[in-house]
Amino acid sequence: MEKMCHLINSSSTWGFHLMCLLCLLTVRGVHGSQCALGLYTPGRTWPQGDISLEYGQTLRIYCILDDTLMGSRLNSTNSTDLVFLRNGREMESEYVSVINETTIVLHVEKPEPSNDMYYCKLRVNNGYEPRYEAVCLNKVTIGFKPEKPLNFTCVSQNWENLICTWVPAPNHVTTRFSLGYQLPGRAGGRSTFNCPESNSDQLLPPNTCMWDALTDPSYRMVHENFKFLLRAENLLGTNLFTYQFHHWANVIPAKPVGLSIVRKTSSSALLHWNIPYPMGAFPPGLYHKVSYQSEWDDPKKWETKYIKTGSCDEEKYFDLSDLPYANAAYNVRVFSKSALAVDEDKWSLSSDLKFRTAATLPGQSPKTILGTFETVVKRSSRDVYVYWQAIPSYLENGDNFTYEVYTVEEDGKLVNLKPDEITKTYAMFKEISLNSDFKFQIVAMNCMGVSERKSTIYVPSENQRPKEPTEITKIAFDGGLFELSWDSTFSTDILNYTIFRCENNRDRPYQCSGYLDWITVTPNTKTYNITVPDETKLYQFAVAANTDRGSSGMAWAPCTVIHNSVIGKMNSIWVNNVDSSLIEIGWKLKCSDRTDSVNGFILYYCPIEKPKYHNNCKGSKLRKIVPGDRNTIRGVVDGLKPYTTYMLSIAVLTKNGEGPHSDSIFATTLEAAPSSPQNVIATVTGTSMTVEWKPPSDLNGVLRYYTVHYSREPKGYNQQIKINNRTVVRDLEPNVVYNVSVSACTVLCGKRSSDILVRTETAIRNGSDTARPKSDVADKDEKHQKQSRYLRLNTISAYVDDKKCLSIQRQVKKAQQLANLAQEKAAKAMDSYFESCGKPVGSDFDH
Ligand SMILES: *[C@@H]1O[C@H](CO)[C@@H](O)[C@H](O)[C@H]1NC(C)=O
Ligand SMILES: *[C@@H]1O[C@H](CO)[C@@H](O)[C@H](O)[C@H]1NC(C)=O
Ligand SMILES: *[C@@H]1O[C@H](CO)[C@@H](O)[C@H](O)[C@H]1NC(C)=O
Ligand SMILES: *[C@@H]1O[C@H](CO)[C@@H](O)[C@H](O)[C@H]1NC(C)=O
Ligand SMILES: *[C@@H]1O[C@H](CO)[C@@H](O)[C@H](O)[C@H]1NC(C)=O
Ligand SMILES: *[C@@H]1O[C@H](CO)[C@@H](O)[C@H](O)[C@H]1NC(C)=O
Ligand SMILES: *[C@@H]1O[C@H](CO)[C@@H](O)[C@H](O)[C@H]1NC(C)=O
Ligand SMILES: *[C@@H]1O[C@H](CO)[C@@H](O)[C@H](O)[C@H]1NC(C)=O
Ligand SMILES: *[C@@H]1O[C@H](CO)[C@@H](O)[C@H](O)[C@H]1NC(C)=O
Ligand SMILES: *[C@@H]1O[C@H](CO)[C@@H](O)[C@H](O)[C@H]1NC(C)=O
Repeated sequence: MEKMCHLINSSSTWGFHLMCLLCLLTVRGVHGSQCALGLYTPGRTWPQGDISLEYGQTLRIYCILDDTLMGSRLNSTNSTDLVFLRNGREMESEYVSVINETTIVLHVEKPEPSNDMYYCKLRVNNGYEPRYEAVCLNKVTIGFKPEKPLNFTCVSQNWENLICTWVPAPNHVTTRFSLGYQLPGRAGGRSTFNCPESNSDQLLPPNTCMWDALTDPSYRMVHENFKFLLRAENLLGTNLFTYQFHHWANVIPAKPVGLSIVRKTSSSALLHWNIPYPMGAFPPGLYHKVSYQSEWDDPKKWETKYIKTGSCDEEKYFDLSDLPYANAAYNVRVFSKSALAVDEDKWSLSSDLKFRTAATLPGQSPKTILGTFETVVKRSSRDVYVYWQAIPSYLENGDNFTYEVYTVEEDGKLVNLKPDEITKTYAMFKEISLNSDFKFQIVAMNCMGVSERKSTIYVPSENQRPKEPTEITKIAFDGGLFELSWDSTFSTDILNYTIFRCENNRDRPYQCSGYLDWITVTPNTKTYNITVPDETKLYQFAVAANTDRGSSGMAWAPCTVIHNSVIGKMNSIWVNNVDSSLIEIGWKLKCSDRTDSVNGFILYYCPIEKPKYHNNCKGSKLRKIVPGDRNTIRGVVDGLKPYTTYMLSIAVLTKNGEGPHSDSIFATTLEAAPSSPQNVIATVTGTSMTVEWKPPSDLNGVLRYYTVHYSREPKGYNQQIKINNRTVVRDLEPNVVYNVSVSACTVLCGKRSSDILVRTETAIRNGSDTARPKSDVADKDEKHQKQSRYLRLNTISAYVDDKKCLSIQRQVKKAQQLANLAQEKAAKAMDSYFESCGKPVGSDFDH
């Protein structure tokens, strides 16, 4: 040991050093002037060794340097270099005082209850850094005299043993306990049955005693009361505690044995069990507790029955009656306890049993109401969905549970009609008659048979069936609130509406096959708020209008609109109607965008540059606001230019602002009447007039022709149609005032230009000064190029179109025939012809 300590001493690890010190102190006796025997330290403490104090006493420890060392090894140190440490931390100087050159003292007035290690050390300053050398140490325990244990309890398991435990009060001073019991009265005399030595194969936890038939002393089970004596002692004192113990009230029986069902019905079960040995002979007897629950109950809730009669039986029967659910799994637990026991914690463990009640007829028939059906009308037949409210599963009361269509009556006569599909909520009949009314009877059925009551659904024939509500909109708010709205302005005889709510795992268009519920509302209701029972589930909604002729049947809300949702780009937009100055466009909001926050729509439009190649706006985009709501489906932009291609798009206007623009669509306005031709000039001769003009400034379409209007009072107007911008009007009377105007025509004719008044000359002008076509501008189809212009009969005949011209033509022919006739005469006749009948061609007339 010494050797080891020297070895450790030379190391700088304090922990080992101290451990070593501790060993020495406890194992060996210590010489008065040394810390520990054989241990080479520079001093000692006083008192030596372990110190135990009662809480409240003062702790005082001296640390004394060995003065024989003063002159030698530690010649430069004295008591000012001594320090006290508690659990490794230096004590504050207020607790330490120097007595003389060799001695200091630690003084703590009233240390807290604790168990601490105190060290005295010497600061040695040799060279650069100070080092601490151990002087001595004390283990100090501050505590109390033995106190009453916190919990002292004794319990007998199945009347076969007795186990006592206690929890010592907290105390740093180690306390030893010894327990024994005495029997009351004369029976026990003065002898005490002490805590038996716990045998090695059954190790008990500390502060526990156990007596049974095999221990010495043994368990005295036949005595109702015991007195326990608990003796506690420690360094500071001794104490004795006594406990009166009601033995039989603290016997906890083993769990009941052989729990079984003797017989059962759909609402009861007869239970049987045995009392475990030796409790059948327990003098006070037992109470029993039967707890049970069904698969439909809250798993935390148990129904409980108590049996406090016949306490000394060996076996028990108990009839569990009035069970609410047939064909249901039940759990039963049976407990027992001493009839004398007071506390609930004295119940035994339970014997558990599972059983199922017997099946019976369904407990309810499916519920229906006027209107629990939906019709899908086709051309010559209809599909009918007959709905009902499923009965709660706990009333199904038997296996193989289904719903059945029991009977079908068509126009009052029983028919053999089987549904094409049947689910837990509806039966579907495909392609049944439009013109018959139907009555369906629905029943619930299980392995035991059919529900007693039958539910009836009446579906009127199509011509009798009231029209179902339209525009059914379902808006989802937070917290499971839905606003349902609909329209049925077309019907006047509605007595009330039924609103249906159907739980389903998918929204429309999936047919709902979950639990259906409904409420009826007054006929003036058009909006109704419903809060659903479970926010996390999906519900479909339908509305039926009821009149005294029957119900319209259900009309489902096609989708769910989220309140205040952001509306996306509209993509269903088309041109309804186009005119020359307006375009009507139509659109359809996506079902889920039909929110109540729609305030209107904005139509954006602009004429575009070159329709085929560029879809660029000519100028800036124009907008037109169409006030409305989610049901608005069309809007008109007007004041447009005719015969112009426009690019249009639309955005939804909501309370939250404007949505994104839709993709663009294009439409071209129709042609309109053009504006009047401009710069109309009329030049006259005696019987003809040349009218020229410039095209209208706004064509508004494809120019088809012009109309030249000329008149002479009181004669009506005459017209001449030309696509050119000039014409010659003939057959006028000389020296007359004519009123001339021109209009242009596309598909429509525009306004006439303002009137020009011209007077024809008094006599027909002869001579070569009258304009006439030259040969080089003659018709290009001319086949007889080499003929002189005076002989071009082909050309002439091509333009002949009235009597006078014909006669002139004849004259020309005559002149030709009489080839020798004077050239002058022929030329005059030609001139006359051209002046009145010839078609003016090309630039010949331009100057
Ligand atoms: C003790 O003191 C003497 C003289 O002052 C000195 O020579 C010696 O080294 C010292 N011894 C120790 C262990 O410090
Ligand atoms: C110092 O004081 C202690 C305690 O009072 C005493 O036992 C010791 O003899 C004293 N030593 C010196 C050198 O005075
Ligand atoms: C201890 O020694 C220091 C010098 O090393 C000296 O100043 C002091 O007075 C001494 N203390 C006592 C109590 O002798
Ligand atoms: C003592 O018993 C009481 C109730 O009887 C219990 O709440 C407490 O935890 C027990 N104390 C100890 C230390 O076991
Ligand atoms: C339930 O139906 C199955 C098959 O459809 C059948 O095998 C079974 O026997 C039926 N159970 C009862 C209790 O009728
Ligand atoms: C339904 O609830 C919404 C949101 O709270 C509310 O704005 C609306 O006015 C309610 N409608 C009816 C008919 O109560
Ligand atoms: C609703 O109207 C029907 C007749 O169409 C009537 O039979 C029913 O009693 C009415 N329900 C309520 C709650 O007023
Ligand atoms: C008639 O139209 C042609 C082109 O079609 C044009 O060159 C000419 O200037 C026009 N004449 C008048 C008088 O406007
Ligand atoms: C020419 O026609 C216009 C339009 O009909 C008419 O108002 C005007 O009086 C006419 N002028 C003459 C001189 O006939
Ligand atoms: C026009 O010619 C005819 C017949 O040649 C003649 O009688 C008449 O006087 C002429 N008129 C004028 C104005 O030259």
